[in-house]
Amino acid sequence: MPTLIKNIKELVGTRNESKPLRGAALREQPSIVDAWLLLEEAAISDYGSMSSIPASLANHPSIDATGCFVLPAWCDSHTHLVFAGSRENEFVDKIRGLSYAGINEKGGGILNSAKKLEQASEDELFNMAWSRLQEIARLGTAAVEIKSGYGLSLEGELKMLRVIKKLKERSSLSIKATYLGAHSYPEAFRNNHQGFIDLIIREMLPVIAHEKLADFIDVFCEKGFFSVEEMETICRAGMAYGLRAKLHVNQLNSIGGVAAGIGLNALSLDHLETMTPEDISLLGKSATIGTLLPSAAFFLRMGYQPARELIEEGAAIALASDYNPGSSPSGNMNLVISLACIQMKMLPEEAIQAATLNGAYAMGLGEETGSITRGKKANLLITRPIPSLAYLPYAFGTNLIDKVMINGEFIH
Ligand code: NIG
Ligand code: FE
Repeated sequence: MPTLIKNIKELVGTRNESKPLRGAALREQPSIVDAWLLLEEAAISDYGSMSSIPASLANHPSIDATGCFVLPAWCDSHTHLVFAGSRENEFVDKIRGLSYAGINEKGGGILNSAKKLEQASEDELFNMAWSRLQEIARLGTAAVEIKSGYGLSLEGELKMLRVIKKLKERSSLSIKATYLGAHSYPEAFRNNHQGFIDLIIREMLPVIAHEKLADFIDVFCEKGFFSVEEMETICRAGMAYGLRAKLHVNQLNSIGGVAAGIGLNALSLDHLETMTPEDISLLGKSATIGTLLPSAAFFLRMGYQPARELIEEGAAIALASDYNPGSSPSGNMNLVISLACIQMKMLPEEAIQAATLNGAYAMGLGEETGSITRGKKANLLITRPIPSLAYLPYAFGTNLIDKVMINGEFIH
């Protein structure tokens, strides 16, 4: 039976059609005050103002949303939520003064997670990832990108990607998989980069492509990890299998990853904590989406991403959680939105659209979700009664999401 929601204080993100929002367009968020919304067969069927609700709906059973906002559910376009074990020991090491890069050099960091992943069975990994998916769904996320990258071996990467495939099959969330074989050089290849790149290109990619285990390819382009040239080589090999690039660049250093990523026609360039004025201007002129991860900057005590400058240069920016055990052990998009407003000076409308519509486009789901558009999936949030939309990022740390609908079903 169709679901009708009535007396919505404000229905936010209503669009007849959608495209990625860049520059000033990011703050223009269409909405209808005092609205109704009809959902049918897991899709958004129709909506409008209560003053002109069709007579045929007048006696239809309905959910009353008096005082509440309804908006598209969060689209988290960058996570690493398949992982084994946690790394709060490193969190304490960092409190005591060690740096993120220093922890990685000591064999901690990504290598630490790789060791834990090696010991976990596919079923154990699946169960841990499944409970994280339930957790983010309750917090309002209905679409999510998940990366591999803690395998660092053929078996490990296949195990992660098969877990993601199973999550796709069993979950009502929309899920995209990204192959991040080039996350870190494993110990055995520390001094043999070419050997590991050969392993990625000759052994991992053909199996991953054959089993259709990935939608995108990613590389951690950073000093001490993968150079710009190494990233280009790996991405070109992935692109030959139809995997478009979504890349980790400019987290700790600006080493040319932005220009190279745009040259590769990357769908998104992610992190961007460390940007030169040239990087900002290049990204602003490109079709590539810049994905900002403020909770990673928060957790690692780094400077935040230059959201305002990017918007002024006309960039399309998305917000994502980076959910992972090392730099952002939280997949809470509500916190991401608050950080974006508080620390990066994004307007509430900008942050919400960056975390919905632009996030959807940053993982190839822009035509399916991210706005209140007829025909898109019924993925939405109903807030508790709140005075205004700005109250959502303002009251940080308070869960103001009352109900979450994913693919037409309310989740519990
Ligand atoms: O996006 N920076 C690279 N990768 C992850 C963190 C990985 C980890 O520390 O486990 C990130 O921040
Ligand atoms: Fe990441």
